[in-house]
Amino acid sequence: MKVGVVGAGTMGRGIGQIFAQSGHDVIIIDVSPEALNFARKDIKNSLERLLKKDKIKEAPETILGRIEFLGDIESLKSCAIVIEAVFERIDIKKDTLAKISSFVSEDAVIGSNTSSISIDVLSRSVKRPERFLGIHFFNPVPVMSLVEIVPSEATSREILETTTELLKSVGKDPVFSKNFPGFISNRILMPMIREAILTYEQGIASPSDIDKTFMLGMNHPMGPLKLADFIGLDVCYDIMEVLYRDFGNPSFKPPITLKNLVDSGKLGVKSGRGFYNYKVKKE
Ligand code: 3HC
Repeated sequence: MKVGVVGAGTMGRGIGQIFAQSGHDVIIIDVSPEALNFARKDIKNSLERLLKKDKIKEAPETILGRIEFLGDIESLKSCAIVIEAVFERIDIKKDTLAKISSFVSEDAVIGSNTSSISIDVLSRSVKRPERFLGIHFFNPVPVMSLVEIVPSEATSREILETTTELLKSVGKDPVFSKNFPGFISNRILMPMIREAILTYEQGIASPSDIDKTFMLGMNHPMGPLKLADFIGLDVCYDIMEVLYRDFGNPSFKPPITLKNLVDSGKLGVKSGRGFYNYKVKKE
């Protein structure tokens, strides 16, 4: 089966990787050749890590050999399923989904990896809404087994069931959410991150003490501010904006500190600066 992924960012790379690991042919599409070059290197690194830990049996080069890195969305014609993983901006997603829908075959399934945008709204951009649904993966995709499945009002039961089986077959353990802002995960996670930012903003505690509270007190693998840096502060901001707008509730409003960090290009791990400093992975 051929799987298409549109967007070679962190999530797109991880999604393409797990399907290739399970033996599927994969096409990863991105308009940026640099993003595609980086995707190849990043997937190779991840596969080498998994091989070292005995989590995969095949050589990374063999798995990579199943992935084509292409710039042309027309190449999706041969895919049985295409997953959109572009920026969390409604206009970009709608535009990308419309393009995907105009190139894929009639019986292809289209999924969106949106983390918060309404699946009903996005479904209006595709030609066959009954074959479209939300498939929300978690970062790092090769490590996190969860996937949130979100049908729209129009998604057919058959597509919901076959997609669920496909995701299980590549090692994912799904939960199902109604189409509601933030679904299950981000509706609960983003207010926690928001409160952690406000706790810092109000001078109550340092980032390291806020994070330590959650690591040592609640056994989280990383505290909320480190996690925000890891997800990407721009991504957190965009998700909070969607939640704030769609719920109309100020308790989802992105904090000013978060906006200031994003406006000054401090986006977390990927930019080298966020609540903490990082070494930036370069091509
Ligand atoms: N590829 C392959 N393997 C990877 C990897 C990658 N990209 N990243 C980590 N790993 C593996 C490591 O090899 C290691 O394997 P082992 O358990 O067999 O030793 C394991 O994962 C743990 O990695 P590390 O030892 O390097 O580092 P940590 O122990 O600090 O774990 C982490 C890193 C897995 C990221 C862990 O800190 C974690 O689980 N953090 C929370 C992540 C999380 O909450 N993700 C969800 C974010 S929300 C989201 O994505 C939704 C969106 O809509 C916002």
